[in-house]
Amino acid sequence: MIFSIIARKCQTSWEVIRTRGIRESARYARTRIHDAFKLYADGSFDRRYGTDTAGWVELTDLTCVGSSNVKNCIYYEPTAEPLIHQLLSALPPIQYDQFTFVDYGSGKGRILLVAAQFPFRAIVGVEFVKHFHDIALSNFKRYKTPKQKCFALSSVLMDAAEFVPPEGPCVFFLHNPFKFALLTRVMEKIQRSIQEHPREVYVVYWCARPQYIEYMCGLGIPWREIPVRHHYSEEAKTRRGFLLSYVPPMSAAPPGAR
Ligand SMILES: C[S@@+](CC[C@H](N)C(=O)[O-])C[C@H]1O[C@@H](n2cnc3c(N)ncnc32)[C@H](O)[C@@H]1O
Repeated sequence: MIFSIIARKCQTSWEVIRTRGIRESARYARTRIHDAFKLYADGSFDRRYGTDTAGWVELTDLTCVGSSNVKNCIYYEPTAEPLIHQLLSALPPIQYDQFTFVDYGSGKGRILLVAAQFPFRAIVGVEFVKHFHDIALSNFKRYKTPKQKCFALSSVLMDAAEFVPPEGPCVFFLHNPFKFALLTRVMEKIQRSIQEHPREVYVVYWCARPQYIEYMCGLGIPWREIPVRHHYSEEAKTRRGFLLSYVPPMSAAPPGAR
C-alpha cells in the first residue's frame, strides 16, 4: 500500500518535472508546500478550540441578506489568531467593560471569539451570509477556553450598510470585508455616529489595498500604523494594519470611559 502511494507520487513528480522543467517544478513544489502549510496553520485555531472557522470561501453562490451588496463583498477568509492579538494589542489601555466590540463582516466568528478573551462589555458580529452567521452562533457554544472573559457574544444577520453603531464607546474591527463603495458608506455611518454621540471610538483596520488605506487614513481621525510580525503567512506580508483613534475632548467624554 505505502509503496504504491510512493510510486504514484514519484510518477506524478516526474511528470511535473518533464512537462515544466526543473526550475518551474521547484517553484511549483514550493507553492504546494506553502499552501499545505497555510491550510494546516489556518486549521490550528479550530483544532485548539473545537470550532469551525477555517477556510477560504468565494461568496457569489451563498445566500446573502440584502443581496444588493453581494457585488460589494470580497470573500470569506478568517484572520489568524496571532495576528488578531497583534492588532488588538495596539489598543490603548481602555476600560474594556465600557466598550462594545464590533466586527464588520464577522464571517464564522473567529475574531469575535478571540476578542472574547478580553473583558469587553459586549461583542457583536455583523454578517450577511446566513450560512456563516449560523456557524458563528454554533461556534459561540463550542468555544471552550479558560481565557474567555466576555460572554455577551452575538452575531447579527444583516448587511453591514444597515448596521447602526452602538451608542457607547466602541472598538470597530474591519478585516478587508468589502469593496470601496461600501467601505465609504460604513465609515460615513461611523463618523455620523461619532458626531451625534461623541465618545471614545477605535477602528482597527486590516487591508492590503492602497486606495482603501489612503481613504481610511484621510478621514480626519488620528491614526497610526500597527506594527505586525508576518510569521504566519507569506501572502499576508502585503497587508497592513491601522488603528484609528477618536477620543473626544474631556468635557464630552462619557464618565469612566477612559
Ligand atoms: C475577509 S472575511 C473576514 C471574516 C472575519 N472578520 C475574520 O477576519 O476572521 C469578510 C466577511 O465579510 C462579510 N461581508 C461582506 N460584505 C458584507 C456586508 N455587506 N454585510 C455584512 N457582511 C459582509 C463576508 O460574508 C465575509 O464573511
